[in-house]
Amino acid sequence: MVEILPSLLSADFARLGDQIAQVEAAGASMLHFDVMDGHFVPNLTMGTPVLQSIRKITKIHIDVHLMITNADQIAPIFIEAGADSVSVHQETCPHLDRTLKLIQTEGALAGVVLNPSTPVSTLSEVLDIADFVLVMSVNPGFGGQKFLPNSLNKIRQLAALRAEWGLDFKIEIDGGVGSSNAADIARAGADWLVAGNSVFGAADPAAAFQALRSAAREATQQAA
Ligand code: DX5
Ligand code: ZN
Repeated sequence: MVEILPSLLSADFARLGDQIAQVEAAGASMLHFDVMDGHFVPNLTMGTPVLQSIRKITKIHIDVHLMITNADQIAPIFIEAGADSVSVHQETCPHLDRTLKLIQTEGALAGVVLNPSTPVSTLSEVLDIADFVLVMSVNPGFGGQKFLPNSLNKIRQLAALRAEWGLDFKIEIDGGVGSSNAADIARAGADWLVAGNSVFGAADPAAAFQALRSAAREATQQAA
């Protein structure tokens, strides 16, 4: 079943609890939590105290996206703070095999992220280990950017490899997802669609979430 993951980066941080309750009441089963270090990406966001607070108010899946240079050191503390899945960038992890296994050993699903300029072929040796692959459809660092269309080709490549090799990793897409492209993204083979600005930037986040989910599920003929 295709899922829409509201990205907290675009939420009102002064009302984070309310905003989570809104999308949860609308049916969200997963949330996306962006961690930026000001080195790998030119921005800073949230740390473990925020995740711990959120963990206390919701039971739904929290997907932590690490945009940091020292993922091996930091991933375990986010899992301890309540992350259900953790993704790390291919570009920051020279020992990706070890990093993905570390995340799994610590008790979370392990994902690997590709920047727009990083080819799918760089993952050939870890696709059988990863629980999910996150395709960045913008250059990471900020919400509200425009979707890069080549990302659809990357989703199709990953979906083809998954079928050919008999694997079952999920395909996640992050950046510029909205009502104009959610159906195409789902049809290309993505399972998890991260949506920040198009959910929390909308006048009614719950309605925006449901519209996106219906568009994605109808495109793949799943019950909306
Ligand atoms: C960007 C982050 C995204 C961001 C997406 O670097 O990784 O998760 O929240 O925001 P939108 O959906 O607004 O492009
Ligand atoms: Zn993200």
